[in-house]
Amino acid sequence: MLTINHLCKRYGKFTALNDLNLHIDRGEVFGFIGPNGAGKTTTMRIVCGLLKANSGEVYVDGIDALNCSSAIKRKVGYVPDFFGVYDNLKVIEYMDFFASMYGYDKNDIRETIYGLLELVNLSDKQDSFVDGLSRGMKQRLCVARALIHDPELLILDEPASGLDPRARYELKEILRNLGDMGKTILISSHILPELGEMCTSIGIMEKGRLVTSGKVDDINDKMHGEAPIHIRTLSDMNEAVIILKEMPNISDISMNEDEIIAKINGDDEAVANLISNLISRNVKLIGFEKEQVNLETLFLDLTGNKEPKKGPDDFLSADQIMNGGDNSGEN
Ligand SMILES: Nc1ncnc2c1ncn2[C@@H]1O[C@H](COP(=O)(O)OP(=O)(O)OP(=O)(O)O)[C@@H](O)[C@H]1O
Ligand SMILES: [Mg+2]
Repeated sequence: MLTINHLCKRYGKFTALNDLNLHIDRGEVFGFIGPNGAGKTTTMRIVCGLLKANSGEVYVDGIDALNCSSAIKRKVGYVPDFFGVYDNLKVIEYMDFFASMYGYDKNDIRETIYGLLELVNLSDKQDSFVDGLSRGMKQRLCVARALIHDPELLILDEPASGLDPRARYELKEILRNLGDMGKTILISSHILPELGEMCTSIGIMEKGRLVTSGKVDDINDKMHGEAPIHIRTLSDMNEAVIILKEMPNISDISMNEDEIIAKINGDDEAVANLISNLISRNVKLIGFEKEQVNLETLFLDLTGNKEPKKGPDDFLSADQIMNGGDNSGEN
């Protein structure tokens, strides 16, 4: 559905996109991850036809996006990272306004607009002024607006930024529904655990290039293959370590007061064999856990950073999200 080949974009002397290559299949929910300034917004704006590239190719459903911007605008719906201000416009008028921009007669499209407002849970706000909506509601309205012309590719730039946990959850449900409806979705976010739950594939971007991309499960599996295991035992830990050292697929063994930590080279079958081996050698296991590698760790490993760059609401952990731990200007 979306293919990007050797895309380059310079702002003056600064290279924002440096030979970017990316492919997203139809029906995928693709998560775009990258630190501030990686080039996510730049990429999205080029795909939507809002920004000119210096070189490269972009195809949306086979259409040359760099040279056919009006055809592309029919194919793509875009939810930008910042909203404009809409004084004295009610929700329904706002939707009518964008429908007319796509050339629809407002009476012909009325049912579609009601359906979209229902999809984003704003049916009861249709006569409210847009400026009086909360940030989460404005965000959902923006999603409804981007869907007016029934685009095949929906592009959302940081849609969850500044939303409280409940609003994030609701937005996630809307995106899940859209995914089920067969829309292809490209979404950028700094909230990595959430992207992991929501996306079928992810791409990690850094300094204008794609570091890696693929199915979340494949990338996770690859990482989990090397994830440490934590072993707790009632037996003498030194004896357990001696047994572990005899095993060919175990490495990096270390110990602290409570547990042994080691790496296993192998899949779930190898893990199962390790457990039964330890038990058959009379190691009394009371705990055995494979460390979960989340997207945050994956991102840091792949981009080689020790710590993520901090922005206003970058890289929240799942706990922070549940505690509403961002400092965004929620209203
Ligand atoms: N209009 C512009 N003029 C000059 N430089 C720009 C312009 N827009 C973006 N840049 C630069 O291009 C780089 C990529 O910016 P972009 O906004 O695409 O990053 P991003 O990945 O979306 O970052 P963020 O996570 O902060 O939204 C940054 O270094 C930015 O400073
Ligand atoms: Mg951006």
